[in-house]
Amino acid sequence: MQQGAAGQDPRKQVGNALPSDIGWTGLLTAHMRAVESQRNDRLFDDPLATALVDLVRNAVHTDPDGTLPTGPEDDSGELTEAWYMLATYLGVRTRYFDDRILDAVSGGTRQVVLLAAGLDSRAARLALPAGTMVYEIDTEPVLRFKESVFESAGLKPGGGRRPVHADLRGPWVEKLTRAGFDPLQPTMWLIEGLLMYLAPEVCDRLLDAVTHLSAPGSRVALEYFDSVPRQDDVSTVNDVEAAVIGRIVSFFQDGPALPPNRWLEERGWDPDVITLAQEIAGHGRDIPPLFQKGRRHEVGVWLAHGRLH
Ligand SMILES: C[S@@+](CC[C@H](N)C(=O)[O-])C[C@H]1O[C@@H](n2cnc3c(N)ncnc32)[C@H](O)[C@@H]1O
Repeated sequence: MQQGAAGQDPRKQVGNALPSDIGWTGLLTAHMRAVESQRNDRLFDDPLATALVDLVRNAVHTDPDGTLPTGPEDDSGELTEAWYMLATYLGVRTRYFDDRILDAVSGGTRQVVLLAAGLDSRAARLALPAGTMVYEIDTEPVLRFKESVFESAGLKPGGGRRPVHADLRGPWVEKLTRAGFDPLQPTMWLIEGLLMYLAPEVCDRLLDAVTHLSAPGSRVALEYFDSVPRQDDVSTVNDVEAAVIGRIVSFFQDGPALPPNRWLEERGWDPDVITLAQEIAGHGRDIPPLFQKGRRHEVGVWLAHGRLH
């Protein structure tokens, strides 16, 4: 077993720093990326998520609410409905955004900003061209936790990466520019797994700021729900699942007030919008009941990207 800098068991160090508020949702996302990475037909491989989940699983006893994802399989080894929904949503979403980033850098963009980076490891995982800088904005505890995991696991998160500690509901632009961000260069902005945790007016302010900081040729990619799911929209088979779904739902706010094509167009972005269900079907996978048409949600989740000319 590895020992950390202070001679402590790294699994304990990791467990002690586990994000327990909204930052916990980043842990869940990483866990689902680790699940996707284990599939034979995986859409990506995220070894950093896998390492993180191994460390965290071993520190599970430190989770205060007992809602740390401990294992998404039922007794037969199959994913249950709730875990299949989460793994499919987050796996397919990840690949959609990977492709948007790779498309932007292949077009010459060398500046990537992850708004609410969480435990995203794209700076290391994607083959980004030399000279690409990835700015990762999230709260200080989450980014410090991520670095402690990288360190404990002996992993290198890559060279072109700069953490920016900020609350995206408050002033963050100056912190980003102080970190070296150049608004005169085209940027690839990623807003993944964030907007559903923000009020409509906060979402508007965020996209206004992104637009203001975007040179021609910039791109933005984002996702949110058409209407906020409730706990009883997802079938659960035991208390742990119910607690995980309940915990996610407890963080939800309304997100943007407009559908993404109008929301982006109003600010001058040329939008391209698809539903998560369409994207899942495009990968030949079963659409989880939550995202099937005819349920309470007509759309479920939008995946969108836009380009500024
Ligand atoms: C579901 S995770 C997604 C993380 C990452 N984008 C990914 O897909 O792996 C949500 C992230 O949003 C961050 N977050 C939520 N509200 C925030 C805020 N007001 N300011 C900064 N980060 C925030 C949380 O700390 C968490 O890391």
